[in-house]
Amino acid sequence: MLPDCYYPSAMEPPTPPTALRLRACAKVNFYLRILGTRPDGYHNLATLFQAIELADTLEFTLEKGRDQIHLWSTQPDFPDGPGNLIHQAWRLLLDRYPSRIASPGLRCRIDKVIPMQAGLGGGSADAAATLVALNHLWQLGLAQPELRDLALELGSDVPFPLIGGTAFGTGRGEALSSLSPIPTTHLLLLLPPSGCSTAAAFGWWDAAHPQPEESPSLTELQQLWSTAIEQGTWPQFLHNDFEDLICSRHPDIAAVRDALRNRGLPTVLTGSGSALVGVCASYDEATAIAQAWVPVAGERLILTATRSGPGIW
Ligand code: C5P
Repeated sequence: MLPDCYYPSAMEPPTPPTALRLRACAKVNFYLRILGTRPDGYHNLATLFQAIELADTLEFTLEKGRDQIHLWSTQPDFPDGPGNLIHQAWRLLLDRYPSRIASPGLRCRIDKVIPMQAGLGGGSADAAATLVALNHLWQLGLAQPELRDLALELGSDVPFPLIGGTAFGTGRGEALSSLSPIPTTHLLLLLPPSGCSTAAAFGWWDAAHPQPEESPSLTELQQLWSTAIEQGTWPQFLHNDFEDLICSRHPDIAAVRDALRNRGLPTVLTGSGSALVGVCASYDEATAIAQAWVPVAGERLILTATRSGPGIW
């Protein structure tokens, strides 16, 4: 009888890789409604996530015989301590699967492209990429549902990059249904100087909504988005419940939003801000507006596009 693992004499047993490079892409929310508070202190959401081409590149290298993580980034103000979600993803796997991990040492080099504190999910995408990379490098054998549960422990936006494309999210944003992909659409991202704290933004929403309100039907909302994508009318339905709350407190964000709208672009705040997304009808329109753009409040501009593939690749 052959042993469980039989390799013909000419073949070497496969050696697990010790390094891996992944891209982790940003997201925008084309729609975000807050449906009320939950007993666990979070809020229920109805949101439309869209992966975009803007992506960080992460290079993971196992460091045998070491037990630390070392983060290194091209971005000078990149937070490289235990608060970083890459660090937390590494720590979570070590705590959860100690007997399966022979050597914890890890070096991670991050080519940081996705702006931070912008509502573009860059930290979440980096965390999701770390789970995917370490599952592979440490040969943990975790299936997609297990990865998704671990991702949610790291943050409400971490599960989305594991699937990417176009998805309708409910619950904390982690109950995801993939929708037909939005055909490639060029987007202008405008980054005002103000950053936004997600926890503060939810606090402002709570203060403005002291009484529970009737929730819309989630099935109907998801259906509305599916139909709007199919018919190409989805830019008419852009909406974010945080937008007015944030714009009334941050004049720079309001000024940038108004400037985009004055150019005739369907415009929406993404996540809890501070980036604004302008939806362009074509690449030519996007480049023409980008080239003629005169900053109104010290904002940065990025031209990108929707992405239909997975968020980590
Ligand atoms: O899940 P995450 O760590 O990204 O959330 C950051 C903060 O945003 C939470 O501490 C919570 O205050 C708020 N939040 C919420 N409801 C959600 C997502 C986030 O209240 N669905």
